[in-house]
Amino acid sequence: MQNIVKRFMTLVSVVLGLSFILGAFPASVHAEDLIVVGFSQVGAESDWRTANTKSMQDTFVEANGYRLIFDDAQQKQENQITAIRNFIQQEVDYIVLAPVTETGWDTVLQEAQDAAIPVIIVDRMIDVSDDALFTAWVGSDFKLEGDKAVEWMLETQAEELKIVHLQGTIGSSAQIGRSEGLEEGVEANEGWEIIAQQTGEFTQAKGQEVMESILKQHEEINVVYAENDNMAFGAIDAIEAAGKTVGVDGDIVVISFDATRAGLDATLEGKINYNVECNPLHGVRVDALIQQLEAGEEVDKLAYVEEMTFDATTITQDDIDAREY
Ligand code: AHR
Repeated sequence: MQNIVKRFMTLVSVVLGLSFILGAFPASVHAEDLIVVGFSQVGAESDWRTANTKSMQDTFVEANGYRLIFDDAQQKQENQITAIRNFIQQEVDYIVLAPVTETGWDTVLQEAQDAAIPVIIVDRMIDVSDDALFTAWVGSDFKLEGDKAVEWMLETQAEELKIVHLQGTIGSSAQIGRSEGLEEGVEANEGWEIIAQQTGEFTQAKGQEVMESILKQHEEINVVYAENDNMAFGAIDAIEAAGKTVGVDGDIVVISFDATRAGLDATLEGKINYNVECNPLHGVRVDALIQQLEAGEEVDKLAYVEEMTFDATTITQDDIDAREY
């Protein structure tokens, strides 16, 4: 009997010892097999960005064979450059960059190329001297998004329009494309006039602040063209606080971009007249690119995401329920 107890105790201590060893060094055991991804995110300026971060964080998990090193740059390019340099030092397998602005990436991406680390750009585009500095890009056609909004204005709005233009972060592809779309529309339509054009930096607070000051300077406003949902929310708050109404049957038409869940709620409510989708679910798309590269396959250099539009007069609750974010 004593012998059996002794053997049982030995077995227990071996099992405990093994689990201690495995538990003490989980990273080194797994690191060998995991693909390490360094992701430099712009920040957390909007609902869209939150959904984009979640999509990346949900995808690049151990269960899918990844270790994610996530960095939030708080809207500053210098923070993104520092993050990329850290990723290079840590010898990550892939660098994924959601760039705050288009320019200013040549030097740091050259450093990544010298270290033989593939760079995948997501969401916004970059403007570099040599396209070989990045392996692939996946994101939205922001100019097309702007064109869709202009087309809707042509089909539904009057020939004479006084437009307030709330721009996103200046120098970002999302701002450049959406602004170009509107500016071309105004150029082509004599009766359209941009009476105020200012950045709201893609945030609700800044959108509200800018709109409040514009409302003090302009009595007649027909359309607010807000380059994302959060700035549209801020603008709506400012307009309502000034005693005016928005949306369908309101004093001021509101056009927005992103079509996040909250944005679509406001569209269904009739406060946003027209919402152009910008799809943030890039996690699975970047994963697919990495898997192709791991398999030694060629990848498309540029991949544009297909996007929808939502009109307040036709949107349904089912459209919102179908939304993944
Ligand atoms: O680059 C995509 C844009 O960035 C989204 O429209 C905006 O909400 C975000 O902050």
